[in-house]
Amino acid sequence: MLHLTANALRSLSKSVSSEVALFCSIFFNYCKFFLSTADFIHPCNNTEPACLIKATQDAIPQFCKGLPHLGVPPLDPFVIDELPIQLPGIKVTFYEGKATGLRKCQVLNVEAYLEKNVFILEVRCNITIKGKYTAVGRLLLFPINGEGDSKIKIVNSIIKLNINTKYFKDAEGRDHFGIKNYKYTFDYGERIVYTINNLFKGNPELSNTVLQFLNENWRIVTEEFGQPVVDFALNVTVSTAKKFFDAVPYDELLNVPIPKY
Ligand SMILES: *[C@@H]1O[C@H](CO)[C@@H](O)[C@H](O)[C@H]1NC(C)=O
Ligand SMILES: *[C@@H]1O[C@H](CO)[C@@H](O)[C@H](O)[C@H]1NC(C)=O
Ligand SMILES: *[C@@H]1O[C@H](CO)[C@@H](O)[C@H](O)[C@H]1NC(C)=O
Repeated sequence: MLHLTANALRSLSKSVSSEVALFCSIFFNYCKFFLSTADFIHPCNNTEPACLIKATQDAIPQFCKGLPHLGVPPLDPFVIDELPIQLPGIKVTFYEGKATGLRKCQVLNVEAYLEKNVFILEVRCNITIKGKYTAVGRLLLFPINGEGDSKIKIVNSIIKLNINTKYFKDAEGRDHFGIKNYKYTFDYGERIVYTINNLFKGNPELSNTVLQFLNENWRIVTEEFGQPVVDFALNVTVSTAKKFFDAVPYDELLNVPIPKY
């Protein structure tokens, strides 16, 4: 929209007076700035964690909302069309789902070692995942044959990402951050609340009893089937970050000379 408006104004400006032309060119440049650099990025002039933490915190809400003009899809809400989770003994399929909460993650730490190509990010997040599910098999002691609605509420989980970065030049010769690979740890946090109906088709009493058991033992339960879900979530997050780094050059993110590479 803004892009179209700017282009329209610019072509208009050619045929009207010079004042209008000046105004339009300022407006166009403003739009161009807004569309490329984006005003939610406040580049740090050094790699002190205090500045990186603040800059990352400032960028998260807009980054999570998505930047369609840069080809960066939204992470909050994040749509999960279908996520099959095959575990020993049970097959769970989660579908028509939505995860929310990432935009409110609290940044606890950011460290960037530009020469060593290491970037560390630690965040605390409340995440809610809602959607439909089917589950067939055994979960802990229970034979499960369920289908229905589910909601998983994760409170104060802590995610630590350790990313190996690289640098590369785009077609115009501008430097960019790249992501080579990453490792993570995920601490499920204070509490996970499961709200899952119909774990046993047609038996609400047994369904409720098992649900209660799952909630009382949320940590063991989550350790059993959480891993593939978290792998998936971080994979999506990191590939979204890759798209962002592909679109936004290094010098728009950080005001520190790039190491030789
Ligand atoms: C970096 O330095 C520029 C120029 O001195 C300043 O305007 C900007 O606010 C600084 N950035 C941060 C995040 O402190
Ligand atoms: C998560 O929710 C809890 C309880 O509602 C709240 O105390 C906490 O501050 C929230 N954490 C974040 C990172 O928003
Ligand atoms: C992450 O996504 C990529 C591309 O979609 C895929 O090839 C890879 O196997 C995924 N890794 C994990 C851990 O899910």
